[in-house]
Amino acid sequence: MCGIVGYVGAQPAAPILVAGLGRLEYRGYDSAGIAVIGSRGAKVIRRVGRVHDLAAAVPERTSGGIGIGHTRWATHGAPTEANAHPHGSQDGRIQVVHNGIIDNAAILRERLAKDGVVLASDTDSEVLAHLIARSAETSLEGAVLDALAHVTGTYAVAVVDVSTPDRIVVARNGSPLILGVGEREMFVASDAAALVRHTSSVVHLDDGEFATVTATGFRTFTGDRQDTAKTPTTVDLTVEELELAGHEHFMHKEIHEQPASLERMLRGRLDDRFASARLDGLRLDLRELRGFRRVKVLGCGSAYYVGQAGALTIEALARVPADAEPASEFRYRNPVIEPDTLYVAVSQSGETADTLFAVREIQRKGGRVVGLVNVVGSAIARRCDGGIYLHAGPEISVASTKALTHMAVGFALLALALGRVHDLSHADGTRILAGLKALPAQIGEVLADEQSIADAGRRLAHARSLLFIGRVRGYPVAREAAQKFKEITYRHAEAYPSSELKHGPLALVGPELPTVAIVPDDELRERNIAAAHEILARRGELTVITHPGVDLGDLTAHRITVPKNEPELDPILLTIPAQLLAYHAARTLGEDIDRPRNLAKSVTVE
Ligand code: F6R
Repeated sequence: MCGIVGYVGAQPAAPILVAGLGRLEYRGYDSAGIAVIGSRGAKVIRRVGRVHDLAAAVPERTSGGIGIGHTRWATHGAPTEANAHPHGSQDGRIQVVHNGIIDNAAILRERLAKDGVVLASDTDSEVLAHLIARSAETSLEGAVLDALAHVTGTYAVAVVDVSTPDRIVVARNGSPLILGVGEREMFVASDAAALVRHTSSVVHLDDGEFATVTATGFRTFTGDRQDTAKTPTTVDLTVEELELAGHEHFMHKEIHEQPASLERMLRGRLDDRFASARLDGLRLDLRELRGFRRVKVLGCGSAYYVGQAGALTIEALARVPADAEPASEFRYRNPVIEPDTLYVAVSQSGETADTLFAVREIQRKGGRVVGLVNVVGSAIARRCDGGIYLHAGPEISVASTKALTHMAVGFALLALALGRVHDLSHADGTRILAGLKALPAQIGEVLADEQSIADAGRRLAHARSLLFIGRVRGYPVAREAAQKFKEITYRHAEAYPSSELKHGPLALVGPELPTVAIVPDDELRERNIAAAHEILARRGELTVITHPGVDLGDLTAHRITVPKNEPELDPILLTIPAQLLAYHAARTLGEDIDRPRNLAKSVTVE
């Protein structure tokens, strides 16, 4: 969702800002803009559409070594040039970019209009520029502090002032913002991807924190003007990780990275001696781990579906009751928080507002939350009481793949650690460890079968609607498979537990509605095959994702086979073909796979 960049230094700011915005494209946006301060004041250029449309509109000779830029995801007001950021004060002296939502914008707009201010956009963000410009404070820092004191909501803001053209003042409350430290130059960004070409030295701002950024350094401070001592940390991100490396799409690249990225994630975390997992980041000793009587998983979208599978793994291995709930629902229903429940927040971006709010709500009521998060230093990762970093590397494609696989493995590690202090035997722990070690190579085997999965994807691309079914462990797989399909093909896809077919959805089944059935080689195999027969009996077309030993008898189905692992880990492998099915269907349809319409990579507003 919305992205921010800022630059101050000796180089021309415009190309740096535009290139930085290009790196943030993956977050999702519908318009973009920059403001650069030169000798003749602020030059503001904004465009609806892609960053390359903006780049084409920026005159080559745009001079000025300080500026801010923004990619906008429309919330208040349509995606138009007038609503695109930066927003300026009436005289253009102050320019502001803002991520987040100002809850009291309507009242503030009304007040400004009454005072004679002509509002140039429909956005909530514009009020900031006017409030800052109208502040009685004499310094830019003071004016920003003063303006934000009148605002309720979430924000990351970056502000420049034509009359103090040596500094960018930034503030963070609920939306990500980092500073990049260079050699006599400084950067501002909503994520490290925008900085990767320039510096790996970053400072993460905390909620409620402000900073003044000049070419020679930065100063961070709180709302009551107290300095906060912040030391830069190093981000582990390379330019290569953000490039396609010969793949047509990032989604394809990320699917194929999974064997190597999982090897990396597992390194040092498997404890053969105690048949357990080494998870120091959880910051829980064995006694504390043993004390949990229940596990509650919270995440959104696909992260929630993996959480559902993860809860089943935890119940299976630790015999501790576990369930998952969408964080977006949980935060609104005044949930009972139990001291002996381990709460687990799961998120790729670590910035999902709904998940972050759920974490805060639990902590406020005394609950203990650990995070399964990919982005190091992200808001959820920092807010949680401990956690497991997923180490999937940057995920650029909006449709998540490798990060979800890493989440599933993260849950398996957590289940193993919990299991070994509850009910799980050494032998079973060793069995799971062997399964985990086999996973990377087995994923490689699935990927080697890409051509046959691509055939199935191409065939399914033309269906107007699809049904995905699975039972118990296979149900979250079906949900995720349907989710991936609908996100990037724009086809209607629905997931149902196979056991529920007769209770409703069977009415839909016929030649018009192809079904993808998850049929693992486990204790439910015969039941799943029976459900597949019910589909065929109604002339429904069938694709089955299954294991080598499964005899489908006289079922006429397109068969996709994945290697068998341990039952608790099988869902991880069964999901890989679903990623490729969706990818190849969307490719057949010629869709913009990495940037599906209406979706953003990190959903920083509710
Ligand atoms: C699906 C997808 C979304 C995310 C969800 C949570 O492909 O990407 O459903 O899983 O928005 O995002 P994170 O994991 O960043 O909290």
